[in-house]
Amino acid sequence: MILFGDHVNKSLSERIGEELGLKVYYPDIHEFPDTEKRVRLLKEVVGEDVLIVKAFEPPVNSHVIEFAFLIDAAKRAGAKRVYGIAPYLAYQRADHIFRSGEAVPLEVVIKMLESTGLERILIVDPHTIKIPEMFSIPVDAQSALPLFADHIKTLSPDLSEVSVVSPDMGGIRRIKILSELLENASWVAVNKDRDYETGSTVATHHEGDIKKWCFIVDDMIASGGTAVEAVDYLLDRGAEHVYIMVTHPVFAKDAHEKLQNSKAEKIFVTDSLEVAQRQIFEKLEIISLAPLIARTIKEYLR
Ligand code: R5P
Repeated sequence: MILFGDHVNKSLSERIGEELGLKVYYPDIHEFPDTEKRVRLLKEVVGEDVLIVKAFEPPVNSHVIEFAFLIDAAKRAGAKRVYGIAPYLAYQRADHIFRSGEAVPLEVVIKMLESTGLERILIVDPHTIKIPEMFSIPVDAQSALPLFADHIKTLSPDLSEVSVVSPDMGGIRRIKILSELLENASWVAVNKDRDYETGSTVATHHEGDIKKWCFIVDDMIASGGTAVEAVDYLLDRGAEHVYIMVTHPVFAKDAHEKLQNSKAEKIFVTDSLEVAQRQIFEKLEIISLAPLIARTIKEYLR
């Protein structure tokens, strides 16, 4: 088996390599002046199973194309099977038509990857439950929730004083699963209204019981607005310690500053995306997905 790492998320690639006991090879990627790309695998793959790690960091479109080219390169070079490891899947928020006249970008991306020869893909905490079903190939949809549950247990002395919180109504399923992992700890779902002109959000009301220790859990942070709004909302209503746990650190613009200056005690994210050096802040803790990813790969290759 040959593992190709991602230049952008090198730390995750290297950790996966360590966990699997595989050397990590990096493809040669060249960008022409007009932004077209050329990719080249510098390792023989004839008859081999090939794993390709891909982090869809900005510029996302460029990484989507790069991923498809890498799959194609591996197939053309004689790889037996090509497996994708894309913990954060690009375009997952665009999985349906929101307003008439729109495209379904996620469906287009999936079709492209599948037609290029991708055999199977591993993703983590997809934005909605239906995303794995949009693929025709097998999908290993893993979750960081058990990792978050372990951290919650070490942080909070008494689970009867804990609420797991979704900062919007769309995340109820996620926090119900997490609640079960924590001896049915209380759960709270905050209702968020978004102003579609400005993009800003406001927390209006909630369902459930707000306890002393609150853990806001979400699939991703982009601007940070949703999570920070929920922190203030919970503290105004009796919470004493609020933490944020998010799988994908998309971190747009000044999200890192917003989070550092918030009243959350700590912000946990995974390494599904590499956090740029300038966006690292004191309250941030990064949990690696590498052991989970390696475990899954060992299972399906057995
Ligand atoms: C929304 O449905 C997602 O689960 C996140 O809550 C959202 O993408 C976070 O965005 P932001 O950090 O910009 O508020």
